[in-house]
Amino acid sequence: MAELTYRHAVKDDCDEILRLVKELAEFENLLDQVNITSETLKKDGFGEEKLFHCIVAEEKPSPGGGDTSKLIGYLLYFWSYGTFTGRVLYVEDLYVSQNHRRRGVASALWDFAMKIALEKGCKRMQWVVLDWNTTAVAFYEKLGAVNLSKKEGWLIYRLNEDDIRAAITG
Ligand SMILES: CC(C)(COP(=O)(O)OP(=O)(O)OC[C@H]1O[C@@H](n2cnc3c(N)ncnc32)[C@H](O)[C@@H]1OP(=O)(O)O)[C@@H](O)C(=O)NCCC(=O)NCCS
Repeated sequence: MAELTYRHAVKDDCDEILRLVKELAEFENLLDQVNITSETLKKDGFGEEKLFHCIVAEEKPSPGGGDTSKLIGYLLYFWSYGTFTGRVLYVEDLYVSQNHRRRGVASALWDFAMKIALEKGCKRMQWVVLDWNTTAVAFYEKLGAVNLSKKEGWLIYRLNEDDIRAAITG
């Protein structure tokens, strides 16, 4: 049996993380929006200014199993802030490769992140999910998470780079 371990990502994981980012984007039908490179991930996650943190699930081959270790899931987060409460752990991505689902991998990644959130004094964790993604919704509801669009009526807005340029008036 291959062994599964959970750990903080290191710079050398970025090629594998990018592979998983693309798998997630494909699942979400958003692959055409992925422009990031492994170099950017290395700079932004492990350079001077750390813009994100990442927890990975790694499958190590059983002794004599031959293959090298590979990543089979990840949870990428960064710090956000809420003026009502303080520090927020914002989860940008949660993903588990298809063949490894329903074995508790996402639960273990999420547990890892929840412990970090409490250690760092976070008052909240927050994220978004596509409304058709019933599997992920089931996962979040099992955790006891609150659906803010239903409960408080929040909408999600975005300005892309071109929109920002176009919107600047001064
Ligand atoms: C959602 C996802 C991360 C769950 O990962 P996972 O490792 O399979 O989840 P777990 O095994 O830890 O499941 C924990 C609980 O979530 C719920 N759940 C997970 N998959 C489910 C499914 N297919 N149907 C219904 N409930 C499900 C169950 O309550 C499950 O507990 P149980 O197995 O005791 O019933 C995984 O399916 C995935 O990567 N999907 C594609 C990407 C994605 O949707 N990411 C989230 C974007 S917001």
